[in-house]
Amino acid sequence: MRMYDLIMKKRNGGVLTDLEIEEMITGYVKGDVADYQMSAMLMAIWFKGMTDHETTQLTLVMARSGDMIDLSAIEGKKVDKHSTGGVGDKTTLIVGPIVAACGGRVAKMSGRGLGHTGGTVDKLESIPGFRTVLDRKEFFDTVNKCGISLIGQSGNLAPADKKLYALRDVTATVDSIPLIASSIMSKKLAAGSDCILLDVKTGSGAFMKTLEDSLRLAQTMAAIGEGAGRRTVALITDMDTPLGNAIGNSLEVMESMDVLKGKGPADLTEVSLQLAANMLCLVGKGTPEECRRMAEKSIEDGSAFETFCAMVRAQGGDDSVLRDYSRFPRAPFHKDILAEQDGYIVKMNAEACGIASVILGAGRATKESGIDFSAGILMKKKYSDAVKKGDVLATLYTSKEDSLKEAERMYRDALTIGKDAPKDKPLVYARVEKDKVERY
Ligand code: URA
Repeated sequence: MRMYDLIMKKRNGGVLTDLEIEEMITGYVKGDVADYQMSAMLMAIWFKGMTDHETTQLTLVMARSGDMIDLSAIEGKKVDKHSTGGVGDKTTLIVGPIVAACGGRVAKMSGRGLGHTGGTVDKLESIPGFRTVLDRKEFFDTVNKCGISLIGQSGNLAPADKKLYALRDVTATVDSIPLIASSIMSKKLAAGSDCILLDVKTGSGAFMKTLEDSLRLAQTMAAIGEGAGRRTVALITDMDTPLGNAIGNSLEVMESMDVLKGKGPADLTEVSLQLAANMLCLVGKGTPEECRRMAEKSIEDGSAFETFCAMVRAQGGDDSVLRDYSRFPRAPFHKDILAEQDGYIVKMNAEACGIASVILGAGRATKESGIDFSAGILMKKKYSDAVKKGDVLATLYTSKEDSLKEAERMYRDALTIGKDAPKDKPLVYARVEKDKVERY
């Protein structure tokens, strides 16, 4: 194989063979293919796309580039979930314990924050003492005991994706359907669950900004999952507006616990219940209606919250902070952002809200920088809310007082205030299977 020939083939719109894809990816992981040639290939894929068969082959080769985890030591059907990334998206912390409390098994490896989007591992690490690195035995034992364990990705899970993702991040090739689909599904297939529920975000805070692109991405991933023998379903959910009212790590943990205690914000509660019900259906717990009711009941009777607390204790965390939020470390500085005019919030740019939170310290400025777990934003007014001059729109929290000014500017720019109330938007746009799209 000459990488030059493959780049030229793809650049001219050709279709790569299975062998060409396999040699290209294994060569790249070994270091035989240079970054500059892979960058050119990624850009050629960005422009010319891939057939479904090429995308599936790319996914399988990436999945097999590292460990393929065998979860058979965990009893029962295992169900995984993956979000394509969003702002204020803390649903794993809610959905995971709901599903476990209802008898599903959740052995999940999650990621850290990426760009303006948050990551589950960072949120979990804001719980004092919580360990996101467990050895295989501890991981399996925790799932067998609590029904759920949430950990970080093991070092050798889909290493091809790790290398390719870092390159895509700096070559403007992230937002390509075959590249996102293969990146996500290679990790899901390697992580070993029987079924997969995908939460494909759509809107200003998502990688896919339009519903049509989100649907295509969802169908591509569902087809890859089913082709590999895993039941795979996707929900297309809104990410034009941040989800819930909290952005930032410990703030999002507290809000997730509010949902598990039955007093969370309506949008976050509804999206979480729909995700959980679909996961329960995937593991055969009943009809959609029965699964929805089961999920609601696990909140009402406190079993989902207690399941989360049990997992936190099993992974070394202090669950007293989940019962008494005043025990979480507090940000030393905060600032209210006040409305400067009357009207309605007619647009919230979710990506800009996420960037404001990163500026406050809730995300990483560089790959190496640390996270301020207490930093973030509590939104008091959201899309379609009426505001009066002087109302608090949001409160910013940080340990870096000098970040408040820039974060405020970014947050204000994210909001558009108009005279008339805007139209309501759906929280969930569609449910997607390999050969079926149900639009809501
Ligand atoms: N999340 C991933 O894991 N990969 C992508 O390419 C985009 C979002």
